[in-house]
Amino acid sequence: MADVLVIGSGGREQALAWKLAQSPSVSKVYVAPGNGGSRGKVENVAIGFTDVVKLLDFAREKAIDLTVIGQEAASEAGVVDAFSAANLKIFGPNKAAASIETSKAFSKDLMSEQNIPTAEYKNFTDSEAARRYAKSRPLPVVIKADGLATGKGVIIAGNETEIDQAIDDIMIKKTFGSSGDTVVVEDFLKGQEASLHALCDGHNSVIFPASQDYKQIFDGDKGPNTGGMGAFTPVEWVTKDLLDRVNNDVVQPALQGVANHGAPFTGCLYPGLMIDGDNFKVLEFNARFGDPEAEVYMRLLDSDLYEILNDCASGTLDHKKVSWKAGFAVSVVVASPGYPGEYPKGLPITGIEEAESQNDIVVFHAGTDIKDGQLVTAGGRVLNVTALGATLDEALEKAYAAVKLINFEGMHYRTDIGRRSS
Ligand code: AMP
Ligand code: GLY
Repeated sequence: MADVLVIGSGGREQALAWKLAQSPSVSKVYVAPGNGGSRGKVENVAIGFTDVVKLLDFAREKAIDLTVIGQEAASEAGVVDAFSAANLKIFGPNKAAASIETSKAFSKDLMSEQNIPTAEYKNFTDSEAARRYAKSRPLPVVIKADGLATGKGVIIAGNETEIDQAIDDIMIKKTFGSSGDTVVVEDFLKGQEASLHALCDGHNSVIFPASQDYKQIFDGDKGPNTGGMGAFTPVEWVTKDLLDRVNNDVVQPALQGVANHGAPFTGCLYPGLMIDGDNFKVLEFNARFGDPEAEVYMRLLDSDLYEILNDCASGTLDHKKVSWKAGFAVSVVVASPGYPGEYPKGLPITGIEEAESQNDIVVFHAGTDIKDGQLVTAGGRVLNVTALGATLDEALEKAYAAVKLINFEGMHYRTDIGRRSS
């Protein structure tokens, strides 16, 4: 029997841990640092996700059989490099391979080298040159900080004033710190966004059904961007043919490109796509599962997650082992009042048990904690209420009925998850 360690603290990591715990091969799942939702076979370990030394000590001490990276900051901090050097099996890209997410300039250059369809662009370290180029392109134009910026480093500028403001904020005022030393200026793309995910073992890849997330805080895609307010899978208008094209024209060349730079990619590669009719272009690559996308994938996955992640980490991924249930999975995120701005913490949460007693409902905790025996809010995105259904409508009805049973002061959720048509 295997002991597994999952690294991260969000709903994504709870969903991965929940699915891993169902494997007949798994006896224990530790989550570092986890949140208030760990229970049963799943147990928290109070180690931060970038604390390489403590994570390594813990994995050695407990003879962990497989470690799974949830949170990209762990890859960037070098957790995978350290575990690999110590001959500990780990699912997730090393620091160099994770550059496909952590540096947008690297990612764009890789797409260009590998002829992966993406928006026309240039990278700049000089703010005046960036301004000149941005002003020479059709409007709106998109200006992106190179490094990680918690999803806030992308500005769509509709006129010259907004271009100047974006460059000033990112490159001069350094709103995102050194993430803004370099910017990518790229053309604006029209279409519908979809999240694609592929498991990768360094060379082989298995693509998942498409999903969509809902980034803005309010219904109708209004208000500021968040980490994601809900998701569903599969997206019916993303056809099998399109998925095959994404695997062949995006995922495979990306793996080749990363390997050419000396760091074969092991883990989940998640290209964000803009799809316009039959054409698609890559907006960005992420080097991890999406959140809340992981929550819906873990509900719909029919296979043994331990087996397939272990195969990825061993370089022996077999597409025949990855299968999906019929129907649809949805996740509705319940957030703290004020999120994605300032929000209170420590608000008591009720109703989760009742919600989970409903048919086909699993509630994955994100920003929760247990204080004096009471479950309380501890983050912006607090819970993911997930449901399965034979149809998308059925899954949504179940999820929203369950959300209504949950309560904390000022809780906020979108009421239109899954309602965007193609
Ligand atoms: P990124 O972090 O690069 O995926 O960008 C965040 C969000 O900004 C995307 O999910 C899109 O909604 C939007 N975005 C980024 N690049 C473009 C683009 N070239 N054209 C239109 N929208 C974009
Ligand atoms: N759902 C968006 C992300 O995980 O980046």
